Amino acid sequence: MMKLVRLFMAALLLVAATACGGSNQKKERALNAQNGKTLVVFFSHAGENYAVGNVKVGNTKVVANYISEITGADQFEIVCVKDYDMPYKPLCDLAKKEQQQGELPGFKGEVKNLDQYATVFIGGPVWWGTYPQVMFTFLEKYKKQLNDKTIVPFTTHEGSGLGNCVSDLKKILPKAQVKGEFSLYGHEVRESKARVQKWLQGLGYK
Ligand SMILES: Cc1cc2nc3c(=O)[nH]c(=O)nc-3n(C[C@H](O)[C@H](O)[C@H](O)COP(=O)(O)O)c2cc1C
Repeated sequence: MMKLVRLFMAALLLVAATACGGSNQKKERALNAQNGKTLVVFFSHAGENYAVGNVKVGNTKVVANYISEITGADQFEIVCVKDYDMPYKPLCDLAKKEQQQGELPGFKGEVKNLDQYATVFIGGPVWWGTYPQVMFTFLEKYKKQLNDKTIVPFTTHEGSGLGNCVSDLKKILPKAQVKGEFSLYGHEVRESKARVQKWLQGLGYK
């Protein structure tokens, strides 16, 4: 009889331990979606691009708009002071040169009250394996304030996925909680609102 009771107690403990572990994992995955405000920072290139033709709204901007629609997040669009209004091929050459030379081109405007945001989504196209150089200009400017936040990287791409974006972000923001990353093929974003919604739900947004 005692043996049976002990067996029952052991089973009970196991169930309790599994349940706790489960909820901890869930908490770990979820962001502080309910705590504090969310900002979406993104760069996106409208015009001629690979696989989509000539678009009025860039692929990453489409995703950034879904995020704001679904979560109510504010936005800051990184707009480069340089003129990127050119066809795909010359833009590829220019972007490669910028990266090789470690150029940090300027951007327009500034983020107001960055301190009010607990979570910052950071998104852009993958250009030669990582974010466009102008996004690194942004990160260099705001790294001190971004370092104590939750950072959620996202990309649009045509094969590289997240590329080196997450590891590059972690290098610049070693103290930030960089997690919850997501990527989409650029040519699929316009039919992918439901996928974005699912990702955000997984992060704890309603
Ligand atoms: C200059 C340039 C470089 C690119 N390099 C890559 C790359 O390395 N890997 C990749 O998968 N896609 C690459 N692409 C494709 C873009 O990442 C993809 O089209 C993206 O969705 C564009 O987003 P946007 O419209 O928001 O700018 C490149 C596109 C351009 C214009």
